[in-house]
Amino acid sequence: MRMNMKDSKSRLEGKIAKHIATLPRSGIRDFFELVNAMDDDVISLGIGEPDFATPWHIRESAIYSIERGHTSYTSNLGLLSLRKEIARYLAQDYGIEYNPVNECIITVGVSEALDILIRAITEPGDEIIYHEPCYVSYAAEIVMAGGVPVAVNTREENNFALDPEDFRKAITSKTKAILLNFPCNPTGASLSMEQKKQIADIAIEHDLIVISDEIYSELTYNERTPTIASLPGMKERTVFLHGFSKAFAMTGFRLGYACGPAELIEAMMKIHQYSMLCASIIAQEAGEEALKNGMREMLKMKAEYQERRNVITKRLNEMGLKCVTPSGAFYAFPNITSTGLSSKDFATRLLCEGKVAVVPGTAFGKCGEGYVRCAYAASMSDIYTAMDRIEKFLLTI
Ligand SMILES: Cc1ncc(COP(=O)(O)O)c(C=O)c1O
Repeated sequence: MRMNMKDSKSRLEGKIAKHIATLPRSGIRDFFELVNAMDDDVISLGIGEPDFATPWHIRESAIYSIERGHTSYTSNLGLLSLRKEIARYLAQDYGIEYNPVNECIITVGVSEALDILIRAITEPGDEIIYHEPCYVSYAAEIVMAGGVPVAVNTREENNFALDPEDFRKAITSKTKAILLNFPCNPTGASLSMEQKKQIADIAIEHDLIVISDEIYSELTYNERTPTIASLPGMKERTVFLHGFSKAFAMTGFRLGYACGPAELIEAMMKIHQYSMLCASIIAQEAGEEALKNGMREMLKMKAEYQERRNVITKRLNEMGLKCVTPSGAFYAFPNITSTGLSSKDFATRLLCEGKVAVVPGTAFGKCGEGYVRCAYAASMSDIYTAMDRIEKFLLTI
């Protein structure tokens, strides 16, 4: 018997959990449905992923894994050889020591690490403070875990760094953790050492867990300050999240990791073993190759992003769209208030009339109004053409 849509809708009414039914869809997804409906002439500065293919030697190591028949599950925590390689890399490049046996878990991207960490620490009603504008998943992840997301706005006049005093004011008796992402998606902001120290002091004073999503850390164009996890008294309360998607152009491999106190890693592992089991062995072996031999290619991609960043910020500022120079990641976040348009109207009209896709700042939180995100993970020639088109579009407003 055929069931029509109406029947199925009414039969399912009330069956979807309320906190999921009321969860808003990602603003990026909505906007990209519009982009996908456009013709091929659109230049996209919208997607937050490298335009480079994964370096060949990393792809080759994945092929070699399959050739050798490495197609099994791994330990729930991930291959010990990869965890050892991560511990070596973090000790050498980040100056922080983790025991690969019990202080590191391999996950399906930083996305899974975030999900299982937030679920592992959140009791109903617990508050987690994060900064906006921010990566689209944070508030949703907290809500899905039964927690309460508490946004602290970052501001252009402060180069979008989190003001430690704003963070302090947001703390209540229910605050469980603070979630940091520097370099930041979508603003490209980083924190100074002084700001990190102040945030660390507040976290210690209020006994909070710190979640530090450092997925863009290699793509830092000024001097990189040490991770907040390495400050005195912080390692025991911080979970350092990182992965391979951005620096090694490995988004499709879906590989990330979390390092932190053994009890927290064990709690994350419980959820991971029941829900995910393990990350793909093929991706894990490729990740090992990336950390062992991928630095030269990674630095080449970083140098290219830096050149694009210089071009894009110069051009945006010259055409009157004030843009803080991002110190990391691959996003520019220009202020478009001088156009008199809202972020959504600006992005929609630019897409339809100027054939350039950028993401409305509101996709990253309410305080993203007045901004758009331009990803410079696009070729230099596309960036030049996109800038010419935006300049022309501005003349028509
Ligand atoms: C800040 C931030 N964290 C996490 C992720 C998720 O990355 P992954 O591909 O490792 O799941 C992204 C992806 O864009 C991101 O921008």
